[in-house]
Amino acid sequence: MKIGVDYYPEQWDKSLWLKDAELMAKTGVKAVRLAEFSWSKLEPKEGHYNFKWLDEIIEIFKRYSIGIILCIPTNCPPLWLYQKHPEIIQVGRDGKRIQTGIRGHRCINSSVFLKYARNITSQLLIRYGKEPAVIAWQIDNELEAYQCCCNECKEKFRLWLTDRFDNINNINFVFGNEVWSNEYSDVSQIEPPTAYPREWQNPALCLEWYRFTCNSVNEYIKDILFEIRKENPKIPVTTNTWFCENTPDFYKLFDKLDFVSYDNYPPINIPKDPESLYSHAFHLDFMRGIKEQNFWVMEQLSGITGSWSPMSTAPKPNMIMGYSLQAMAHGADTVIHFRWRTAVKGAEMFWHGLIDHSNVPGRRFFEFSELCKVVSRLDVIDTTRIVSDIAILYSADNDYALRNQPQTAGYNYFDIIKTFHKAFMRYGANVDIISPESDLSGYKLVIAPSMFVYKKEAVENIYRYVINGGTVVLTHRSGVKDGNNNCIMDKLPTVYKELIGAEIVEYDPIGYSENKIKDFAGNEYVCRQWCDIIQPTTARTYAEYADSFYSGTSAVTLNRYCSGVAYYVGTLCNSDFYESFASNLMKQTGIPRLKGLPVGVEVTTRTNGRDEYIFFFNNSEREVAIPLPKSMYSILSSVGKNKLELKPFEMEIVRK
Ligand code: GLA
Ligand code: ZN
Repeated sequence: MKIGVDYYPEQWDKSLWLKDAELMAKTGVKAVRLAEFSWSKLEPKEGHYNFKWLDEIIEIFKRYSIGIILCIPTNCPPLWLYQKHPEIIQVGRDGKRIQTGIRGHRCINSSVFLKYARNITSQLLIRYGKEPAVIAWQIDNELEAYQCCCNECKEKFRLWLTDRFDNINNINFVFGNEVWSNEYSDVSQIEPPTAYPREWQNPALCLEWYRFTCNSVNEYIKDILFEIRKENPKIPVTTNTWFCENTPDFYKLFDKLDFVSYDNYPPINIPKDPESLYSHAFHLDFMRGIKEQNFWVMEQLSGITGSWSPMSTAPKPNMIMGYSLQAMAHGADTVIHFRWRTAVKGAEMFWHGLIDHSNVPGRRFFEFSELCKVVSRLDVIDTTRIVSDIAILYSADNDYALRNQPQTAGYNYFDIIKTFHKAFMRYGANVDIISPESDLSGYKLVIAPSMFVYKKEAVENIYRYVINGGTVVLTHRSGVKDGNNNCIMDKLPTVYKELIGAEIVEYDPIGYSENKIKDFAGNEYVCRQWCDIIQPTTARTYAEYADSFYSGTSAVTLNRYCSGVAYYVGTLCNSDFYESFASNLMKQTGIPRLKGLPVGVEVTTRTNGRDEYIFFFNNSEREVAIPLPKSMYSILSSVGKNKLELKPFEMEIVRK
């Protein structure tokens, strides 16, 4: 396990470099990320390179045995390049070129931009490709599914469509362009979905455009990766990702890359709403699930956030340490803190690093230094991974399509996934968030929320899993759309009818209104947003509606199918229902439950196949006490413990 920092030598006077590196080494920093925004320093004029400063700083870090993550700085092309080739600047939905002067303005589909991007990559690789101090490369910074509408993007979109659907007639058919006379008579009439109002766009066109933008970023990665691999075929390569507005298809984004890295900014103000308490754990589990392997944090919260928003409150004691260890508890192996020192210039001067503007180490830095010491004792965790009994399926198509057409007021795909995730976290279970096309055979329980857009491989995978004895939970808004985001003319949930042994006879999108359900044991729960009125064929009723004109009809069902079981949840409830449901599901599938965990406490387990290490993280502002079933050895304090007492944001790790 490693702790590192993000460092910007180009932003600091050279006289600080050596002192900074010395302090890093003394503190226990093992890795440093460099240069993701420094193209103008590396190529101040076209074809004129300046690597001297980078040589020097690399030499300094080498002296202190600090590993380097070197970045391909294509997020910020130098201004000379924009001036010479304004056609590489993105064009917004309004058809106008965006203004430069901040960052990330380039169009990754621009062939001119790509030529320069490949060149700077190749120059860097020729110089540092075989440098042993470089432990990994990062491509660009926080790549998104950019919504650029420049001519080159439009041209490529038209090619993408003809490539997928062959000819204009097929495209018209797939998009249903007879609606509102939108039939294309020529490919040149195809435009990205930019007309207003946005909500009136054609959903089939929107989904294709989204897929195209995801593909563009993947193609970009492939091109840059090619330049990297040419010089060094073995070096690990990543890109740092996050949950942004233009979310890429994470599974595809990382497909060719060696590992996932994530920019991790957990909330400094603990949400009052208990529904979002485990949201952060969810994000980390999500990152682990992208490649179904451990990941890195490339940027980790280090101080007060702010700059483009008013400043947040200060991180509370234990947060700097606790949140880093929390990332490790969910599968991070290396955690790089953003950033070493707070910038004194530029737009981000109030997004705080570990050290304040004064350059005098303070409370947060001392906690970070303690973290480095703690992590240096975690060698036993190095070879461990997270093995889960439970998987929740996420798909980029479903995510996009449901964001594009929220099904009812307040309907949010991520919230639905999180509700399930949280319910299992309350019982201390490991949970994987994975693609619907992943191998499901190792799981005891699979949750497949809102399988909205059809994908043959996913449907077959779910059926296969249940046929072979698995237990699956499907929900409302499954089987609604075909693969082109058009509605299927069949009774819901169409392709899943047989599996769940039931049909939806009618639905009631109740939005923020409330209804009630009653489960088989007579417990009542509030339900909201969506009510599928279910008519079982072979299924049994797990819960029925207790209000409205469909009172007494099925709301949640279960069906034995071949050797497995398929549940269907036709509505959305508050967490009390999901906790009870999760508990029953875990009992039925033989997944161990830790009962009575205090709210906010996260329990995850990492294993090397022989030893298991259980992480207890108190993600709350209260002190908590957790009795252990037997005495367990704490690898943080090297003693056996029968009971854990955790301060707010404190972590304990015990060997089982
Ligand atoms: C992102 C970026 C960083 C920086 C931080 C903090 O994660 O990758 O460059 O802007 O946010 O704001
Ligand atoms: Zn473009």
